[in-house]
Amino acid sequence: MPQNLQDTINALAKRRGYYWPSYEIYGGQSGYITYGDLGTKLKRNITAQWRRHFTARQNVLEIDAPIINPEIVFQASGHIANFKEHSTQCTQCHRSHRADHLIEDKTPLENVEAMGGDAITRLLREHKIKCPRCGGPLADPTLILTMFQTEIGATGGLTGYARPEAAQSMFINFKRGHQHARERLPFALAQIGKVMRNEISPRRGLARTREFTIMELELFFDPQNPRCPWLHEVEDETVNLLTESMQADGEKTPIETTIRDAVDDGLILTEWNAYYIGVSKRFVTGYGVPPEKQRFRAHLPDERAHYSAQTYDHEVQMSFGWLEVSGHAYRTDYDLKSHQKGAEVDMTVLREDGTRFVPHVVEPSFGLGRQFLAALEHAYERRGKRNILRLPRDLAPIQIQVNPLVTRDSLPEKAREIHATLQEAGYTTQYDQSGSIGRRYARADEIGTPLSITIDYDTQDTQTITIRDRDTWTQVRTPIKELPEKLQGYFSGRLEILDLGEKIERD
Ligand code: GLY
Repeated sequence: MPQNLQDTINALAKRRGYYWPSYEIYGGQSGYITYGDLGTKLKRNITAQWRRHFTARQNVLEIDAPIINPEIVFQASGHIANFKEHSTQCTQCHRSHRADHLIEDKTPLENVEAMGGDAITRLLREHKIKCPRCGGPLADPTLILTMFQTEIGATGGLTGYARPEAAQSMFINFKRGHQHARERLPFALAQIGKVMRNEISPRRGLARTREFTIMELELFFDPQNPRCPWLHEVEDETVNLLTESMQADGEKTPIETTIRDAVDDGLILTEWNAYYIGVSKRFVTGYGVPPEKQRFRAHLPDERAHYSAQTYDHEVQMSFGWLEVSGHAYRTDYDLKSHQKGAEVDMTVLREDGTRFVPHVVEPSFGLGRQFLAALEHAYERRGKRNILRLPRDLAPIQIQVNPLVTRDSLPEKAREIHATLQEAGYTTQYDQSGSIGRRYARADEIGTPLSITIDYDTQDTQTITIRDRDTWTQVRTPIKELPEKLQGYFSGRLEILDLGEKIERD
């Protein structure tokens, strides 16, 4: 039986085809998830929303670069030296564990990674933490590189690494991007693609997988001209900020501030980062997480990646605690300068006054699986004995379910005809004639289908169908000929269920 909300959602996901643990028939392998048909469609819809918020602009150029990179790329970027986690090995069963996570499990401490290596070693000893698998003694932690290493070419010779972030592709292709952006700043390179991280002991399903899709954008700007011309679009957006100094003072409650005030008060270092923080809040709110369940928490110095001058994590409150759904890093000119040195290629660009400079960068970065997890948990509702996924209309994997009331008297033929028309019109639909109509509605609710259309005996007489809404279970009766216009209005957010037809009153 499911123990908590995550277990409930995992069970639902497995039963209905959102996702399940990979390599099941071989006993499973932690850190890997396979998405089913519904999950694949939901991922596609989330990436479409991300693109709408982040890339639908002139001078934001998308690229699609390789996953395996020659070692030299990550030597230059600093990842080989820095992309490491504190690992402790059990001296008895030899299993490795993330030392900071073990401490967080056994103490009330949070964000132990930010305390640094010496503190992690001390805390592990002080709290006498043992191997969670066999109870054996743990060795002192060491820093372990968490990138996947491989050989490029069948006979070897050239070491390669799977990229742990998409960003480096944007930096090594900066000059091409600049050329395609007509040599004007600001411009951005964006990428949605797979990355890999050889996590020491992955847990919590979708929240920490060894292979995942990242949605990442690098915005290049002139540090002498750091104004973001789009800032006004989000400047009144309010965000909950937990700054570095607040955390240093032990403060745990964020302040609520507008994006404009956060810039003016120096809480966010660049206008560009502030802009993307505002957009990030809109994106996450748009997929169903209420603003009060969101916060932006600044990284502490020991937690910050080697390339960052300031990072805010966008976090969402989940049933198991705060989950980082995106990182907003001010990467300065660190990466372009690193590759300028590593590749011995000039990464400078020309100002109008004839001076040359290396652009600065801000980066919003999103793990797709974590948006997926946050969207599912915040959509989940238990009503009586029913599971309902109240996914936003533009996110739901199936938009419309079509049902004949019964499987006789030509109702299935008419239902299939309407189903085909909806498919041709571009809707994602499902035809369902198995089981009672109540069971079919329950299935639609559980997978998050916003509307169900039912063809009944009145359809033959009056050329009308019923439309049922997942969230209120309201039903309306609508002429078939009005369906295209009504559905278009509903899925564009212009119309609500009661605008779609005449309400069917129930006794
Ligand atoms: N590029 C962001 C990250 O590596 O997490």
